[in-house]
Amino acid sequence: MISRGRFIRLGAALGSGAAAGALLTACGGAGSSAGAQKGGSSTKKTIAKAANVPPGSAVKFTDAGQPAVLIHLKSGRFVAYSAVCTHMGCTVAYQKSSGDLVCPCHGSIYDPAHGAKVLRGPAPRPLPKIPVKIERGEIVEV
Ligand code: FES
Repeated sequence: MISRGRFIRLGAALGSGAAAGALLTACGGAGSSAGAQKGGSSTKKTIAKAANVPPGSAVKFTDAGQPAVLIHLKSGRFVAYSAVCTHMGCTVAYQKSSGDLVCPCHGSIYDPAHGAKVLRGPAPRPLPKIPVKIERGEIVEV
């Protein structure tokens, strides 16, 4: 369900790319959004050395200037997602004790082992997935 006020803000944001950026930044805290204009090619970006991310842990990184998180699942698989909450854009954090991604703003919980599906709202949809693979012992964005 979407509130009337939020619907109006969303409409305004869709009408202007600048407004959409401001909306995401407004809830994202002190994070920088200015890094999106970095030059250079970036077909494959190294996120971390696999050996430095033990099972059941995570590392933060940025994807196109936005917060993201790489998780080494207890099953051994590596997965990565946008860390921008699908509710109102706060940055989610990996919770080592549960293995979930948790939003500090309104308590949404995502399951990184199952496509970052929403375990608890108000988030309306899963976190966007960031494809990664292991290359020569490093986790790289595909
Ligand atoms: S912004 Fe994440 S739950 Fe509201």
